[in-house]
Amino acid sequence: MEMYTPEVLISEEEIALRISELGRAITNDYENEELVVICVLKGAFMFCSDLIKKINRPVRLEFISLSSYGDGTNSSGNVRLEMDITANIEGKHVLVIEDIVDTGLTIKTLLNMLALRKPSSVKLASLLFKPAKLKHRVDINYLGFEIEDKFVIGFGLDYAGRYRELPYIGVLNAGN
Ligand code: IMP
Repeated sequence: MEMYTPEVLISEEEIALRISELGRAITNDYENEELVVICVLKGAFMFCSDLIKKINRPVRLEFISLSSYGDGTNSSGNVRLEMDITANIEGKHVLVIEDIVDTGLTIKTLLNMLALRKPSSVKLASLLFKPAKLKHRVDINYLGFEIEDKFVIGFGLDYAGRYRELPYIGVLNAGN
């Protein structure tokens, strides 16, 4: 297999620090309420796993999978539910954990879908936000980092199924 060294955009240390801050903010906001955390697969798995360790509140963890991207770097424009959560969220406090908000279509579709299930509240934590391509307004309650309009990989995010395992957020260079 070819060697690759993506350029580091956000280091492992910066990510860890920011996640600790977000965890503290979430802990303060929820007092002693139980939270249903919905991890949006696959991209948010690493962010979610680190973030919930920093939330000092009772958490129930759920997973959901949606697809809007094919194997490339552009959205297909359609969001499909591939795997649903198993919990009933009616009357519950829900925290959705996403990897990145780009056009906003995926998360907006998900938030609309969850609202129909009558949760008591829904908030959104996203590791990254790319404002350049935003088409659907979404409120990110807990944001890790705002980034430029570059296709990023690592810390859960992929390019054609690869690079999710990188411990940092990187950018692919020509030749990678
Ligand atoms: P949106 O619907 O355009 O906001 O796209 C959101 C989804 O597209 C994310 O959950 C990611 O899976 C994927 N995505 C968007 N931008 C990137 C990127 O720069 N790197 C990797 N995946 C991305």
